[in-house]
Amino acid sequence: MSHDPRDPERMRQMAKDEKLQSRAHELFLDSCRYNYSYNYSWLGRPVIQYPQDLMALQEILWRVKPDVVVETGIAHGGSLVFSASMLELIGRGRVLGVDIDIRPHNRAAIENHPMARRISMIQGSSVDDAIAARVRDETRGAKAVVVVLDSNHTHAHVLRELELYSPLVTRGSYLIVLDTVVEDMPKEFFPNRPWGPGDNPRTAVREFLRSNRRFQIDREIQDKLLLTTAPEGYLRCLAD
Ligand SMILES: C[S@@+](CC[C@H](N)C(=O)[O-])C[C@H]1O[C@@H](n2cnc3c(N)ncnc32)[C@H](O)[C@@H]1O
Repeated sequence: MSHDPRDPERMRQMAKDEKLQSRAHELFLDSCRYNYSYNYSWLGRPVIQYPQDLMALQEILWRVKPDVVVETGIAHGGSLVFSASMLELIGRGRVLGVDIDIRPHNRAAIENHPMARRISMIQGSSVDDAIAARVRDETRGAKAVVVVLDSNHTHAHVLRELELYSPLVTRGSYLIVLDTVVEDMPKEFFPNRPWGPGDNPRTAVREFLRSNRRFQIDREIQDKLLLTTAPEGYLRCLAD
């Protein structure tokens, strides 16, 4: 077995290993029972992600070196700080976060963070046309844009976000749709949520890709992560 981190054949072999895949899925489901995605912070801010997805984002940011990262869903700001810290190491770029409800203590912590100079925030619904127009204005002229969708996880909401924000993503860059894994999870995991199997980011991505040819699922990413909240959610932009 090769040790080359970029050997696609190794990823394909992993993807075909049914035992490995099913054990990984079991582990994923068991970890969700403990809200595992809430276990971590990045440079002091809680980040609601699996570490594998942050690794994938790091690889994408280093490869794309975006001028702007747009992320819907700020929560405590950990993912904004994560992207901002990567851009700080790259030496350029900024992060624009959108959230319907930026709690004052989260806003204060983000605004006082050492990475704050690379972060701006907009409060409002990501599917509000006026908010989307502000995001468009802020990204105008950018040569490379990455978009991460991690707000409300219903089909209708994510599909609208895909319509509004996918045009911002530049060729060679990525549109990342998190929590597509909801489709593979039992309904009981979402007792108080408007989303669940049949109505979630994955169903939205599938509908979006039926008519959009600019994006293609990058299966190599999900294959190598093994544990991810975003199967079929790493979308590579193929065209201007
Ligand atoms: C899963 S959390 C985001 C986690 C964050 N990206 C991270 O990695 O730490 C979801 C966030 O989406 C926000 N949200 C829910 N509905 C929204 C909407 N319509 N527009 C924008 N943000 C929304 C919530 O307020 C919440 O902060």
